[in-house]
Amino acid sequence: MIIAANLKTNLTRKETKAYVEELDNYMKKNSIAQEVLVFPAMSSLDTFDSSVVIGAQNAYATKEGAFTGEIGEVHLEEFGIKTILIGHSERRHILGETQEMLVEKFNYYKELGYKILYCVGEPLEKREAGKEEMMEYIQAQYEGIDTEYEKLIIAYEPVWAIGTGLTPTLQDIEEIHTALKEKSKAPLLYGGSVKVTNAKEVLALKNVDGVLVGSAALYAEHFCSMIGFAEELQN
Ligand code: 13P
Repeated sequence: MIIAANLKTNLTRKETKAYVEELDNYMKKNSIAQEVLVFPAMSSLDTFDSSVVIGAQNAYATKEGAFTGEIGEVHLEEFGIKTILIGHSERRHILGETQEMLVEKFNYYKELGYKILYCVGEPLEKREAGKEEMMEYIQAQYEGIDTEYEKLIIAYEPVWAIGTGLTPTLQDIEEIHTALKEKSKAPLLYGGSVKVTNAKEVLALKNVDGVLVGSAALYAEHFCSMIGFAEELQN
């Protein structure tokens, strides 16, 4: 399974270092065989001597250049980072990244052989508009994306479930994941208000290959518990 932490705009460089160390200690002590990914804030990227895989929350589709406020490939290469998150709902909806921009970014980092965690998910009004409209909305987020890319991981994150404490029912998650697996055989994670109290039942669902966790992952202890659940379920 794949257990991923999106730290968003949280944890300083020093805090991130301590966080990754705590995860690494837990993983070694418990002989964790699951894939654990952590996406720190940009200024907290570094080289970590750890079994945790570090990824970038974002980067521009460029090696380097004049793109104020962005980082490029060279900044990731410096730390040996080969994993990137693309299409997160906060980048789509708050930062205004369009599908076209995401496809450009996807293709750029795909060409470089990066592992890509690509996010899809519907806002509340699309969910309330009914299944057909909701699936059409999600389908549009697959446009231009190579769903057969061997280093692709997909995360289904309903926008209305992110940071709200709300989640779809377990049955809904299983149903949507089963539908999304038809679009791509890539590992499919669920994200949106995953916590210690619900992670185990979400991880146990059919067609759920892992979780992408935001707020609850900020507590290393909680995130370690979720890693532990994944390990238990695989054994
Ligand atoms: P929360 O776990 O805080 O709902 O965030 C989910 C998320 O956006 C992970 O990418």
